[in-house]
Amino acid sequence: MHDTLLLFGATGDLAQRYLFPSLLRLLGDGLLPEDFKVRALALSPHDTEGFREILRPRLQQAHPLATAQDIESLLQRIDYRSVDLRNADSVAEAVSGLVDRHCVSYLAIPPGLYISTCEGLAKGGALAAPHRLMLEKPIGSDSESAEQILTTIGGWIDEDRVFRLDHYLGKAAVQNLIALRFGNTLLEAVWNRNYIESVHILVAESEGVDGRDAYYARSGALRDMIQSHILQLLCLVAMEPPASLEADRIRDEKVKVLRSLRPLDAANAARDSVRGRYTAGTINGQPAQAYQPPEGSDVETFAGVTAHIDNWRWTGVPFHLVTGKRLPERTSRVVVTLKPVTHWLFERPHRGQATPNRLVFQLQPQENIELGLMSSLAGPEWGALELQPLELELSVPTGLHRRIAYERLFLDAFNGNHALFVRDDEVRAAWHWIDSVADAWKNARLPLQPYPAGQWGPEAAADFLPGDVLADASDG
Ligand code: BG6
Repeated sequence: MHDTLLLFGATGDLAQRYLFPSLLRLLGDGLLPEDFKVRALALSPHDTEGFREILRPRLQQAHPLATAQDIESLLQRIDYRSVDLRNADSVAEAVSGLVDRHCVSYLAIPPGLYISTCEGLAKGGALAAPHRLMLEKPIGSDSESAEQILTTIGGWIDEDRVFRLDHYLGKAAVQNLIALRFGNTLLEAVWNRNYIESVHILVAESEGVDGRDAYYARSGALRDMIQSHILQLLCLVAMEPPASLEADRIRDEKVKVLRSLRPLDAANAARDSVRGRYTAGTINGQPAQAYQPPEGSDVETFAGVTAHIDNWRWTGVPFHLVTGKRLPERTSRVVVTLKPVTHWLFERPHRGQATPNRLVFQLQPQENIELGLMSSLAGPEWGALELQPLELELSVPTGLHRRIAYERLFLDAFNGNHALFVRDDEVRAAWHWIDSVADAWKNARLPLQPYPAGQWGPEAAADFLPGDVLADASDG
């Protein structure tokens, strides 16, 4: 197993809130190599002791059940180096003394610094075999910048030693989509255009942009969430059964889905998409401020796009992809709505009022599976059958935390398992489609519609959101 982590972006939010606490849990569970070491790297001019002082309370806060001994054991394994990531020599110098070990470099930094950082890693000898590289999303901000990152870095390190993260793939509920689809006969039988009317994939957040303005002002909801997490969910829902669970067999199937996505055309932009930005409002009784990006940025905090997969299985089935910040609640779910029954026998309810079967995979905050059926169990005891919707609900009593996803991803990268990481051709195919959406928005001048924080996006969002979300909102 690789035993040395070079963690770039060590003072950043991701590292402090999720990455170091994940390492702490892995260490506490005895899952890291005995001689495990971390070199923490960032611009700030700390020394190792100063960095440990900053990290200690963050670890205690993120993982209150950790023992003081485990925290100290992790801190003692960490040393800190200040580094200028725009300067390859500075990077090469900062990783010196470790390259005779088996290193994994983790870049938790803006993608604009990937190339110069990797140039330094290559100079310092940290990209030669057997060293590995973990890269956070997003890889670039469009096809062109992604291509530059992929090809330049690809000149220094082979694809089989690169691990591109999408932390959604590390979530147990997301992996469960594969288990449910391919571990049961029931689903596969109806999993196609003959039985499925539509699919909604929703990732809603109640949090705002808060503190990530510089990144977000260049990204927006489409590039931040749909390009990565939501397209990955779409792939898992729509892909063909892989020949095996080997990493490349799964990734082969995912990339086929991405390549089957019909580019969005400017002429259809208003019908097939919506973009919004939150204004001031209230969430859970608390006032929330409007998002004001810097001058010149017109990014959205809400995006809905109807994706069409032009292949044998899915032609004609709309996949509504929706995400937004400052929405009423944090919830991620996949909602699969089936077609109406072919021939309706019942008087009550009338055919048009029957609720179609629906399968809901709620991924967070709780992991739930719901199946909506029509049943007569609650109808009158005698007389005509009267049907009513019945909800079968399976709650899975496990918490789903981002930190746990990172634990899994760390272990897989240390062990060399690529199944939960994104291959270069997936990145290219995802950007290709996202570029079509961004271009369509630009060419059609699709307006940015305001929505008050605490509401389910702008009014036009109703066409993209799953019906249960809207029904709950009107009940509430
Ligand atoms: C990140 C995005 O990748 O995912 C953030 O950059 C978003 O904007 C986050 O808030 C959501 O992740 P999770 O695991 O909290 O749903």
